[in-house]
Amino acid sequence: MSEFVRVARASDITSGKSKVIELNGRPVVVFNQNGKFSAIDNICPHKGAPLNEGVFMGTMIVCPWHSWTFDINSGSCITNPRAKVSCFEVKIENDELFLKVQ
Ligand code: FES
Repeated sequence: MSEFVRVARASDITSGKSKVIELNGRPVVVFNQNGKFSAIDNICPHKGAPLNEGVFMGTMIVCPWHSWTFDINSGSCITNPRAKVSCFEVKIENDELFLKVQ
């Protein structure tokens, strides 16, 4: 059964920034893109780089190690269409940010 888990205070992640949180022991990066929040796995499926250390541009994050590029709203990899990271549904209530556990 899926459920939402509180992971952060939304106001702690300012526009254009990201924050790594732990969701059931797995690192997930939460992005704030002009007030729209999204969350994906923080481990690159190529060689395991921490995606939060890459370049965050618009709706994309570029992996810091070999530049694979991921859509932060879907987890799709633009560079390698066979690769993908998990994407989490986000909910905000009273400044509390929740992610849906898969
Ligand atoms: S580890 Fe991310 S592109 Fe290689």
